[in-house]
Amino acid sequence: METKNPISILHRSESDEIWKEKCSGKMPEQWATEINEFETELFLKKQGKIEDRIFAETRLRRGAYGQRYDNGTRHDGKEQRKIPFPNALTKGPNTMWDAPGMERIKIPYGGMNPEQMDVIADLAEEYSDGICHVTTRQDIQLHYVHIEDTPSMFRRLAAVGITTREACGNSIRNITACPIVGVCKTEAFDVTPYADAMFRFLLGHPDVQDFGRKFKIAFSGCKQNPCGLTNIHDMGLIAKTQEVNGKIKRGFEFYVGGGLGAVPYQAKLLDEFVTEEELLALTQAVCRVYARYGEKKKRSRARIKFLVNDWGIEKFRQMVFEERARLKEDLRWTDYLATIDQFQEKPHRALSAAPTSHQNNQDYLAWLNTNVQPQKQPGYYIVTIALPLGDITSNQMRVLADLVQKFVKDGVRTTVEQNIALRWINQGDLPSLYDELKKIDLVDAVANTIIDITACPGTDTCKLGNASSRGLAGELRHHLATRMVQMDEAIRHLKIKVSGCFNSCGQHHISDIGFYGISRKVGNRIVPHFQLVLGGQWTENGGSYGLAVGGIPSKAVPATVDLLTEMYLREKQPVEPFKTYIGRLGKVELKNRLVKLMEIPPYEAEPSYYVDWGDVREFTTSDIGTGECAGEVVSLVDFGLKEADRIVFEAQVQLEQGQTLQAVHTAYRAMIHAAQGLIKGYNPDISNDPELILQEFKKSFCDTEKFYDPFAGDKFANYLFKTHETDLATLNQDQMKQKIQEAQLFVEAAYNCYTRMSMNN
Ligand code: HEM
Ligand code: SF4
Repeated sequence: METKNPISILHRSESDEIWKEKCSGKMPEQWATEINEFETELFLKKQGKIEDRIFAETRLRRGAYGQRYDNGTRHDGKEQRKIPFPNALTKGPNTMWDAPGMERIKIPYGGMNPEQMDVIADLAEEYSDGICHVTTRQDIQLHYVHIEDTPSMFRRLAAVGITTREACGNSIRNITACPIVGVCKTEAFDVTPYADAMFRFLLGHPDVQDFGRKFKIAFSGCKQNPCGLTNIHDMGLIAKTQEVNGKIKRGFEFYVGGGLGAVPYQAKLLDEFVTEEELLALTQAVCRVYARYGEKKKRSRARIKFLVNDWGIEKFRQMVFEERARLKEDLRWTDYLATIDQFQEKPHRALSAAPTSHQNNQDYLAWLNTNVQPQKQPGYYIVTIALPLGDITSNQMRVLADLVQKFVKDGVRTTVEQNIALRWINQGDLPSLYDELKKIDLVDAVANTIIDITACPGTDTCKLGNASSRGLAGELRHHLATRMVQMDEAIRHLKIKVSGCFNSCGQHHISDIGFYGISRKVGNRIVPHFQLVLGGQWTENGGSYGLAVGGIPSKAVPATVDLLTEMYLREKQPVEPFKTYIGRLGKVELKNRLVKLMEIPPYEAEPSYYVDWGDVREFTTSDIGTGECAGEVVSLVDFGLKEADRIVFEAQVQLEQGQTLQAVHTAYRAMIHAAQGLIKGYNPDISNDPELILQEFKKSFCDTEKFYDPFAGDKFANYLFKTHETDLATLNQDQMKQKIQEAQLFVEAAYNCYTRMSMNN
């Protein structure tokens, strides 16, 4: 029974009271207590009895983010929509605690049943802007949510089995899994029950409450396909069977230490085969080691990837297995194995003959071709609903929930490509399902094509965004759709992914053509740009990352995509993947071909370059964060930074040619050059001696925090200091490659610092 909470009762609105009453008894007692406690803290915050900073951690742990909606508009994948909001407390990067924010709803392995879909649709309509946004980690986000509504939202979600606990904050985030496990032809077995058990075991577990940063876990049913993306995760598990003592046993290939962000790391193999009985125990040991030894103070070094990298996987493995040996037996490690069968989905509709209708309907046939794939169970199909930029309206969600009940029963899965997968569609039902989906505008025949672009929220709503990822993705969708019909198969299936900044929420590192938002200053204006990242690998669970090629003005991105796809089509070998083609072409040649598109026309000639996609105002980065004025800035800085840009490019070319040690020295030179360039803004006579440059850089840019990134703090500055202290010849190949990426980011940070300083002048 739910406990009464005297403070919140006095201050809840009438509708909150009703929801509390209605939801009472429909959720685990622990969840009810936690929501009550949150409500009390909210009340105390309102009374001014809890600091904003402290309350921020509380609300983030429940998935309630601050957001920006500075431009008051939002791209819905088709058009830029105005978002009216009557409250004035809403603008800018330092969103007020009680200004509308974003609520992230955790959807373990992306599984939602119709009842849950209905509730999410209601919440989006009643408390948000009527849009449910599917994220790249299978969550659903509602934007423009008011903090005071969150207790009611939490209760209504909890009453249908959904929690937002640990959807954000330094905690175990949503546990993701391939959306087609259970019905996939290449899987070893269905990982759903294991993902579910791990979610329940770790939720609120005392051993995962003291992390320095977030921790993301993913399951995959097989190694070769991308769907689980285990390689980009803090912990990744790939289903595998193996003969043990003459019996076929289920288990997992166990990976740790992957991650995207500014410097991406591929996960490392911790153990080749962890049995199902050992899975949760070993996970607990990993979490304890991370909680105890992971960095806590410096956020930028606090992900597990840094610990694994610093120790090396052998030491990490040894520490984990020693920890495992010390753990006290816990029945929950294996209890769930007895009920695994309950996850076995069965078809809701009996198999009927293959359809004969719609055979002349070209739209239907196009949809079959792109959005429908056979399951391993003969006669049943997976239907992907391609959502524009991951958005689905409340109305669409509600009707979809009805269709699920009619055709599927069990539910849907959200996907990491921001779509929704329906499974168990009987072949005979495909035409009628198509007709029903068409009525609610959910039959875009673009799934698994170049048009189905992934994009993070970017500047539309994210406080860290540098450029409009959704605006660009919306524009590219539109641009490419006009070419879709004549598009060659080779380019039709390329992946494009866009992030608004280096944090890489849009997963640009693992796409054929990736972009992340940056900016460049021209005179006293700023031009929105995207860094082009080419040749990342989507298959093999995000098996390798692309390389940055150079900054492209945002408005030149569609032309860049045209050029790249045309070049590939014209010059590729008969069966040559895009990634291989890019590697064969090499960075120098690529840059030569793109250089024209990288040019920024003067404002007078092309003012549109100075405005971001989906905006009408001149571009600014001033709402990202605040920096300090560095005194007079002269164009010598421009020269210095441009030169640093060129040197870092040279390093990448040397790397590509296998001259790794030389490349790392060149990368170091680029960093020194960028630092020197900034100093030249007020001291044109600064020496060329790295020692003196570093001293001055530390005094004038680090001690004063001018170089501090609004989000990453001193992370980029430390790249320089660390590299300076390191004997570069002692680094291994991986570390050398990282140094080159760090140099790229340092130069980028120098540009940003210069932009911030100039804007504040
Ligand atoms: C309020 C807006 C958001 C903020 C402030 C934010 C912040 C961040 C940061 C700081 C990172 C880099 C992590 C690191 O290097 O340690 C990151 C990575 C990432 N975020 Fe977000 N994010 C936001 C929204 C989203 C959304 C909407 C999604 C989609 C669910 C998302 C998914 C990811 C993914 C997939 C990564 C890369 C994987 C990794 O963690 O290494 N983020 N985010
Ligand atoms: S990539 Fe950057 S802009 Fe996009 S959601 Fe993540 S933090 Fe925000």
